[in-house]
Amino acid sequence: MSAGPDTTPDEPGGGAGNAMPVVFRAIAPVLECHLLHAVTRFGVPDALSDTPRPAEEIADALGLHRDALRRALHALAQSGYVAEGPPGLFALNDAMRALRSDSEMPGATLLLTHVEHSLPLYAAVGHTIETGEPASEKVYGKSYFAHLAERPEAQRGFVEGLGRVGTLAFGPALARLAQELTPRVRKVVDVGGGDGFLAEGLLRGDPELRAAVLDLPSVLDAARDRLAKAGLLDRCELVPGSFFETAPAGADAYVIARCLHNWNDERAVAILRTVRAAMGTEARLFVLEQLVPEEQDDSAAYPDLLMMLIGGSERTESQYARLMADAGLRLTGTRPFGPGVGGVTTSLLEAVPA
Ligand SMILES: C[S@@+](CC[C@H](N)C(=O)[O-])C[C@H]1O[C@@H](n2cnc3c(N)ncnc32)[C@H](O)[C@@H]1O
Repeated sequence: MSAGPDTTPDEPGGGAGNAMPVVFRAIAPVLECHLLHAVTRFGVPDALSDTPRPAEEIADALGLHRDALRRALHALAQSGYVAEGPPGLFALNDAMRALRSDSEMPGATLLLTHVEHSLPLYAAVGHTIETGEPASEKVYGKSYFAHLAERPEAQRGFVEGLGRVGTLAFGPALARLAQELTPRVRKVVDVGGGDGFLAEGLLRGDPELRAAVLDLPSVLDAARDRLAKAGLLDRCELVPGSFFETAPAGADAYVIARCLHNWNDERAVAILRTVRAAMGTEARLFVLEQLVPEEQDDSAAYPDLLMMLIGGSERTESQYARLMADAGLRLTGTRPFGPGVGGVTTSLLEAVPA
């Protein structure tokens, strides 16, 4: 399925009297998203191979409805999510390969978690536009992270998916950063560290380094498993807690990766203040976030809206500098660190106590 006829109101068939093109353009991607979620959940990517197979054969193998699956895959083929040819026969392409359970990319995990726990928020965006309140408060009656914390499987999928993407995107840069911090930095605390991918990357880069990962208690099992598998658990402490209340004191460096954009300015400053209070005068803070360019730029518009739904915001460098200043920190430098969502670059911001 394509995103619908690309007509403008001035084109034949797209005039103001004909609402269908604009309505279709709006609804088609939503259905496409649910189609992709359904075929992924049923295991279709794993059942496909490089050799085209009839939809009926895949439906029989997975216990699905033959005609409905053929029509669903045909629609997905129109927008490039699966290869079709000859007609009715389907094979893997790059997009479908990324959704297989054996893919290096955690496409399936991220898609399933997003559709099941973030897509319901889309329907409440009107509430946010009307009131400014996060859609998650309206839909779940609590913050997005409090909602995930009550669903250990989804929460684990979320942090592990982010961690796998993080390793692919930032693994080499983390090893270089660890080298650069040697020998002055002996202990680093990763605040809101998720599945521990960042701690793992730094610990691999410097065999003398020690780390601590602070996150909600329910997240730390994922970090424990990951670091144990990497043989690094003896150099990494796991600290259950809330970054609004506490952070381990006395480390040489602190990292907050991809967390501040989940929260509004007031909450983001609260996290920074917790970390500032834990930092000695010589300690350094690193913040990993994708930055919105200072000048008007459309690339971050949708990533920013995703954050808006949960009460956060994508920000420019100067906006982060202001939040840091409000928390008693001074931004000392910013450098590109790797890719971000939707073509935006992820940057590493460095700060010291003001
Ligand atoms: C977007 S994830 C980023 C995780 C990791 N830093 C990364 O880059 O993959 C946000 C993290 O913040 C954690 N988090 C949310 N609320 C928290 C809180 N109150 N205290 C500590 N961690 C929290 C989540 O559990 C999650 O691991």
